[in-house]
Amino acid sequence: MKPVTQIENLKGRYVVLRSSLNLPVADGVVTNEYRLKKALPTMRYLSEAGARIIVLGHIGRKPEETLKPVFDVLQNYLPVQWGGVIGGDECVKRREMMQDGDILMVENTRQHEGETVSDPEFAKQIAELGEVFVNDAFAVAHRSHASTTGVAALLPSYGGLTLLQEIQKLSAVMKPTSPSLFIIGGAKFETKMPLVEKYLNVYNHTFIGGALVNDVLKAKGFEVGTSLVSDVSLEGASFLDDPKLLMPVDLVVDGGTTGRRTCDIDQVQSDEAILDVGPKTVAMLRDYIQKAATILWNGPFGNYEGGYVEATEAVAKLIAESGAQSVVGGGDTVAAIEKLGINDQFTHVSTGGGAMLQFLENGTLPVIDSII
Ligand code: 3PG
Repeated sequence: MKPVTQIENLKGRYVVLRSSLNLPVADGVVTNEYRLKKALPTMRYLSEAGARIIVLGHIGRKPEETLKPVFDVLQNYLPVQWGGVIGGDECVKRREMMQDGDILMVENTRQHEGETVSDPEFAKQIAELGEVFVNDAFAVAHRSHASTTGVAALLPSYGGLTLLQEIQKLSAVMKPTSPSLFIIGGAKFETKMPLVEKYLNVYNHTFIGGALVNDVLKAKGFEVGTSLVSDVSLEGASFLDDPKLLMPVDLVVDGGTTGRRTCDIDQVQSDEAILDVGPKTVAMLRDYIQKAATILWNGPFGNYEGGYVEATEAVAKLIAESGAQSVVGGGDTVAAIEKLGINDQFTHVSTGGGAMLQFLENGTLPVIDSII
């Protein structure tokens, strides 16, 4: 992929920059700035080279969502102007007024109907904002949208610094040094099954946590009560008997007559839901983590948003202290690491959730293919 550093004569040129700006927002306030901080190096590089940068990104899935809260935070790091919606009067006017090195941030690309369907007309409208396109948005690199792959077909296109770093760091753990440990949590086996099957063959051990465990337990004939399960059934899946597959040995459950409690995996009651893994499981993982040379982790162990954070945070600390080559990703996993302030103790903290998983599965992504 052509890196942004290969663009010649940046001074005075209009550059369309696609960044990962979809930060978590609660009550109009950004709650985690990690992705934005990773978007800064490419913005700074282009600005210092004298480019006139039009930054675009999406946020959320509803068209009415706005990037304004992200803009407010970005102003704390860089001088940046607000351009409003792409194609609007404000956008046209502000763009004309730009000086070398200026940054103009425009509104959520998903406010336009053409974005997610990759409408060529909308891609053209974006392309007309600049002379060169830089894609630095790894978190959305698995989406073929107008502002990602669409515009790349219309302008000379380059990879941003964070996109390139993600590819390099994730590629490295696709061929791990032994002993290696792959940890996968979160939910939705329907999207993660191919990855689990692939990494069982690549890593020495694969631990399944999060709501994915519920599917495994169910397929193995255990009671899972009212736990969240995936749309797919794992019954008969051959990987369930793979000796490299590690399972929790205890669970945190709630909802039954006894309330929140910790129990062994064969003691879940029909009116209880599995919400986290228990302390014996964390202790079991400690041994594998301390011996590992490579650790790859995506997805929390428990219902993180519901406050079941204990095991996820305990494992995050163990990995941070382990000295292993460690690559982690996924929104809730990164939130846990940020909360603990231990980012720097990991080899790489990915900005991607779905994009990270898809890259690990296929070794490429639509956005990467669009730039090469
Ligand atoms: C993410 O937040 O993981 C990506 O940016 C993708 O967002 P999307 O799932 O709404 O497309």
